[in-house]
Amino acid sequence: MHVHRVSAFFAFLFALSTPRAAAQTTFDDVHPVFRKYCADCHSTQGNGAFDIANGDIHAAYADSQLPSYFASGQTKGFASLLRIQNGDMPLGAGCTGNPVLDAGNPPCLGAVEQARIQAWIQDGQRPPRPTTGTPYCFGDGSGTLCPCGNTGASDGGCANTVSFSGAKLVAAGAASLAADTLVLRGTRMPNSSALYFQGTTALAGGLGAVFGDGLRCAGGSVQRLGTQTNAAGASQFPEGLDPSISVRGAVTVPATRTYQVWYRNAAAFCQPETFNLTNGVSLTWTP
Ligand code: HEC
Repeated sequence: MHVHRVSAFFAFLFALSTPRAAAQTTFDDVHPVFRKYCADCHSTQGNGAFDIANGDIHAAYADSQLPSYFASGQTKGFASLLRIQNGDMPLGAGCTGNPVLDAGNPPCLGAVEQARIQAWIQDGQRPPRPTTGTPYCFGDGSGTLCPCGNTGASDGGCANTVSFSGAKLVAAGAASLAADTLVLRGTRMPNSSALYFQGTTALAGGLGAVFGDGLRCAGGSVQRLGTQTNAAGASQFPEGLDPSISVRGAVTVPATRTYQVWYRNAAAFCQPETFNLTNGVSLTWTP
């Protein structure tokens, strides 16, 4: 008992003197890279028998863990880095650095993007962060009705031109001010621009108010977090070098905040406005 206490004490001292390890890379860190560069052939097409750029992060991750035929004994996620480095993938891309030879070919990954995939592999190819927070304000008719009868599903906003279910927002990771790993994931959108924003209240008691082709759910004091470009119908905030959500949203003390995505949907559909929105997500920041 005594010995145990002494060793526990030293373990405590050791913990105090050891710097906190950097947050480990998860699939959330590399999914945007795969969506950006591989979606033309690996989002739902099944080339190479996997869809690592699927807009649904869970489906994409599952496929990244299938056994590779290119690198036997390895995952397809691991083989992805090899085939990027050897110039095979993205297939037909112009990676020579010679603008004459590369003209008209799809773009190649930069060194920073390759390093992100490398870090994910070194950290053990960790899965997407677990979801957190409470989604609310769906376009399924349970709250305010969608403006044109464009009712969506019970997990998204009002229907849009690419999804009868409507665009979906989830939050994942830790909404912790000391160790913020929160990520907002929007899916089921057209490949247009998507503005991620934060509010301080849930509009109309959480039922939402008609806005464009959808419902506005997050209100009060509104902060823009960032505008992303959807690929494979999806985007996320933050990604790459984006600041964390607590920094961009100026959340400095534990508090409840609401989140939503406003996205462009230019095709004629419902209202004259050419935009729609996801459902909202409400969550409480911890110290
Ligand atoms: C223009 C279409 C195209 C693009 C873009 C593309 N691929 Fe592929 N990919 C293919 C095809 C076709 C195959 C199957 C033939 C082969 O293996 O060469 C394939 C196969 C693969 C395989 C082999 C799977 C295995 O079991 O080892 C990997 C890994 C891969 N691609 C990774 C990627 C990654 C990562 C990207 C994006 C950076 C990408 N590809 C972009 C067309 C593409």
